[in-house]
Amino acid sequence: MLKPEIEDGEQTLADPQFRADVLAGLERRPRAIPARWFYDRRGSELFEDITALREYYPTRTETAILERICPEVADIAGRGRAVVEFGSGSSVKTPVLLRCTAPSAYVPIDISGDFLRESSRVLSAAFPDLLVLPFEADFMRPLTLPHTIADTPKLGFFPGSTIGNMIPLMAVDLLRTMRASLGEGAMLLVGMDRIKDEVTLVAAYDDEDGVTAAFNLNLLERINRELDGTIPVDAFAHEARWNDDRARIEMHLVATRDVAFTVDGRPFAIAAGESIHTENSHKYGSRDARILLRSGGWTPIHEWTDPDGLFALYLAEAQAERPAP
Ligand code: TRP
Repeated sequence: MLKPEIEDGEQTLADPQFRADVLAGLERRPRAIPARWFYDRRGSELFEDITALREYYPTRTETAILERICPEVADIAGRGRAVVEFGSGSSVKTPVLLRCTAPSAYVPIDISGDFLRESSRVLSAAFPDLLVLPFEADFMRPLTLPHTIADTPKLGFFPGSTIGNMIPLMAVDLLRTMRASLGEGAMLLVGMDRIKDEVTLVAAYDDEDGVTAAFNLNLLERINRELDGTIPVDAFAHEARWNDDRARIEMHLVATRDVAFTVDGRPFAIAAGESIHTENSHKYGSRDARILLRSGGWTPIHEWTDPDGLFALYLAEAQAERPAP
């Protein structure tokens, strides 16, 4: 396993929300800790490594699709829209989209201000003529975009199958929120990972080199580091499971023996075989994806996939409120 790289003096004060989520998550049954807490510095680095793994096909597949279809996206959506990206903007996918859609502005939305400023700086350097308007916000909540682009039609961009990390209830809420935030005439380009054979799916979340295992286990290291935890990390094993009923990969941390530990002074006991659920990655067939989009108020216009049908990108249009039929 990879060793944490936190140096002396680098330890930050624990986020009260992190403490609350961990304590509540260890208390409840089944035990579950929200996936957003994966991404401390070490976790973000490990995640970068995951995207380059041989077994982890989504990133490279989606990027290749985007490179191929981007001019077509621009033809359908029309150039000159304001591109609004939900989360990050640090990926290699963003420049691909910006190059062919010739946007009038680019609005990356991220909850992490530091991350946002850094990625915006890099993008501005690569696109000196582009108006970059970083927006620090939780995109799960309705937001008012900068008034400079109030009258510009928007193209939302939500790559990476991040929508798959939400349960459908939350995904639909988010799609509706995006529709409200992006306004009249908006379009949305969203990536979703497809349902496929279980071996391929599980391998993508349980690679041979153990990078995803280290990523998952880093959550326990982080709890020990930031919340004064005494979790014996070596007593937990990373597990990626395909839940066929819910069409999702689940990541768990499974106790390999009975363990007792404290977090922030609170005692916990976990029996051998019990798990802490840490992540979901829902997969969508073509019809599933289109129903999901429509449920969220978006009309699918076009769907693109790679030659092997591993991953799909959807272009959708904000749907007018109109009762059936
Ligand atoms: N949304 C991507 C996916 O589900 C990336 C991702 C989010 C991920 N959390 C992860 C990948 C945890 C591996 C492990 O595939």
